[in-house]
Amino acid sequence: MSEEQLDSATPIHKGLDGVVIDTSSVSLVDGKNGNIWYAGYHIDDLARDASFCEVLHLLWYHDLPTEAELTSLRSDLAARRELPADVRDAIAAQADADPMDVLRTAVSMLATHNDGSSIEENLQDIVAKMPTIVAHVQRVREGIDPIPPREELSHAANFLYMLDGEEPSEERARAIEEALILYAEHGMNASTLSSVVTTSTLANPYAAITSAIGTLHGPLHGGATETVIETLQEIGSPEGVDEWVEKTLDAGGNIPGFGHRVYEVTDPRCRHFQRQIDALSPEGEVKQWYETAKALQDAVESRLGDEGIHPNTDLYSGIMYRAVGIPPALYTTLFAMGRVAGWSAHILEQRDDNRILRPRVRYEGETGREFTPLDDRD
Ligand code: SDX
Repeated sequence: MSEEQLDSATPIHKGLDGVVIDTSSVSLVDGKNGNIWYAGYHIDDLARDASFCEVLHLLWYHDLPTEAELTSLRSDLAARRELPADVRDAIAAQADADPMDVLRTAVSMLATHNDGSSIEENLQDIVAKMPTIVAHVQRVREGIDPIPPREELSHAANFLYMLDGEEPSEERARAIEEALILYAEHGMNASTLSSVVTTSTLANPYAAITSAIGTLHGPLHGGATETVIETLQEIGSPEGVDEWVEKTLDAGGNIPGFGHRVYEVTDPRCRHFQRQIDALSPEGEVKQWYETAKALQDAVESRLGDEGIHPNTDLYSGIMYRAVGIPPALYTTLFAMGRVAGWSAHILEQRDDNRILRPRVRYEGETGREFTPLDDRD
């Protein structure tokens, strides 16, 4: 049916709500019961027992790697961690910029070094370099020299080493490893859709991941990891929750860390971040944030739980990050460091069976208007 034939009877799916655009074998997000499966494996098992590189292999090739496959993937990624000089210089010139803007710019610049290698090698390049970019951004923000990556450290341990110059404890490295796994993949969310739309025109993976990073940045999506912390700081303590929630809802406001297009129950990733926070036994400000977040969950669910408004993953992730010493300005970049696994899995899947994504809109304007020359327009 052509565009002019779309009449007022044509249904509009605002926000693509309920629209199914393709099949996929990458993951299943069961919003009714609160389950997530990555290529058939439950997130509870993967968060507890897997490494980020095993999950990356699982999402890309739909199977957990053998020892040999894991060793090969790990060394391919470790060999790609270093940044080109022009990218390091660009990061150094943007000390006051938002880390997500710098991450997006740096990934886009990597395309100019794309030596015509395969799609998979391009994606490995991006996955490997994102932690180096984020760590470099933070060191520049602090006015100190960036630290080069070390190939012998794991993906998460190397990130923490580049961030503060010390090899992390097993506990801190595992906490970041689990966070990257929890954020790795989540079906056809807005940023993954951006990566797929860009891929569907056969644009290169650097362009597709740049699109995804830009989309993730918004406070309705990945940016909520940071706005949740701002909210907890604004509320101040559990005692301030009820008044803040009443004021916010009365004003028709939106509470970061709550609600989801797919989940009708609490996001299953929340319990893993809470388990990590409990294990880290935070004190001081972080403990105050945690107690305030739990009180906020009670207050919001008592008012909106029956309408399906429950915590999403972003309510607790930032508290865990702070407990392991990550500054709030980096929280959405850590989301991206994990989700690049899912974005790249969907990029590979789209390229395997591609058709350009091109939806429609129902035009509600005029047609046949007569052109008036500029001099005749009052
Ligand atoms: C992520 O899609 C994914 O999978 C995303 C993600 C992933 O892993 O990729 O899970 C990660 O992005 C999590 C979401 C992070 N964002 C936030 O925490 C921001 C706050 N949340 C809301 O903006 C909202 O819930 C969204 C954006 C997450 C979902 O928006 P929808 O599905 O379009 O829902 P909606 O805005 O149409 O809300 C439906 C109703 C509305 O009330 P009515 O107008 O019908 O009366 O629920 C209300 C909303 O006002 N509502 C909220 C609310 N979320 C929904 N009211 C107050 N606070 C909220 N957070």
